[in-house]
Amino acid sequence: MAASETRSKRVVLGVTAGISAYKAIEVCRRLVDAGVHVAPVLTPDALRFVGVATFSALASEPAQSTLFDASQAIPHTSLGQSADLVVVAPATADFLARYAAGMANDLLSATLLATRAPVLVCPAMHTEMWEHPSVQETLATLVRRGVAVVPPEEGALAAGDRGIGRLADPASIVAVVLGMLGSNGDLAGRRVAVSAGGTREPLDPVRHLSNRSSGKQGHALAAVALRRGAEVALVTTVGTPVPAHPRLSVVRVDTAAEMEAAMAIESEKADVIVMAAAVADFRPVHVAGRKLTKDDGIPEIVLEQTPDILRGLVAHRRPGQVIVGFAAETDEPVARARRKRESKGVDLMVVNDVGAPGVGFDHDTNAVTIIKESAEREVPLTSKEAVAEAVLDEVVELLDRNDGADRARGEDS
Ligand code: CTP
Repeated sequence: MAASETRSKRVVLGVTAGISAYKAIEVCRRLVDAGVHVAPVLTPDALRFVGVATFSALASEPAQSTLFDASQAIPHTSLGQSADLVVVAPATADFLARYAAGMANDLLSATLLATRAPVLVCPAMHTEMWEHPSVQETLATLVRRGVAVVPPEEGALAAGDRGIGRLADPASIVAVVLGMLGSNGDLAGRRVAVSAGGTREPLDPVRHLSNRSSGKQGHALAAVALRRGAEVALVTTVGTPVPAHPRLSVVRVDTAAEMEAAMAIESEKADVIVMAAAVADFRPVHVAGRKLTKDDGIPEIVLEQTPDILRGLVAHRRPGQVIVGFAAETDEPVARARRKRESKGVDLMVVNDVGAPGVGFDHDTNAVTIIKESAEREVPLTSKEAVAEAVLDEVVELLDRNDGADRARGEDS
């Protein structure tokens, strides 16, 4: 069984000035019922639709709506810093624009600037506004920055209109919030170390040997493990920003040697290790201290083997630890991966046929076969997130099996 988390999760519930603000009351109540600590923050105009008293009565602490409350000098930083998640429901077009522009002219927008917690916005507005390019571009900007969105639904709108723009159902919003908090996740209380991306082995100060790995599958594994409640360490060669998350630590590395060192540290605490990285098999024996130029003639590059990180991790496996390898193959992928699973001593080997269309390097999609001890599971072409879900389903099954074996040993002794 996953260890239960001790501190209840803190959610700042932002409410902005939309007709559907009344539904935020239901969101608040359901989150509190689910054991979440809810701190409501209403924009001044939201108060035209709903009252502070209602939220204060239902939430875990009094609702706030002003930056200049006499009782607290700087409420936005304490709210922002202590939040595990900020959810804005409903989020009006005006609020989304102010948030995307980085404005801080009310308590809620200032809190969003002062937080490193993940953010979920739930827009609600009339169809014409929702479909306006300005709103859509604002939203695309926020999504690019890692903000999660529960899109509006189709249905009855204010003033008798119908169309898309209605705030999503409170139950759906709460399900997404709990998913992001990991409170209901099957990896809650577990530590997962994931490696991602292709390593870079330097030749000289400006050149390196590398491969075509984009790191997308490894990053998707980290994101899904977070959503399922895990504490995640992502050891990655990929420079593109990873959305901040209170349960995520990111270690940037370049070479196989750096990745080996980082994974050795992370694996000491990990319940699960996933080596999704494409580790270079060879590296130059000598790294030139200065840039090689044509005047030096054609260089003869002598290569040596890099450490097999996965083998090292298996050799130092902690009791009950689940270890997953990845293999990108072009010839007889499943047969080769079966042999690789055995020889590397991992629990699962996930193989993709990188010769197939839409599979592997740089695609957003993937198709894999998960090789287990006594069975295989095929995951046909789908998103890298869905592949991550399938891999982690198998991981959870193995963790539960190992826990069961532990319990049985405990009862015997
Ligand atoms: N791997 C590793 N260290 C290496 C090479 C690979 O940890 N030096 C890991 C990869 O992250 C992956 C698994 O081993 O999880 C299989 O990688 P792959 O390159 O297919 O294995 P190799 O043993 O290098 O086999 P091949 O000769 O087919 O490349």
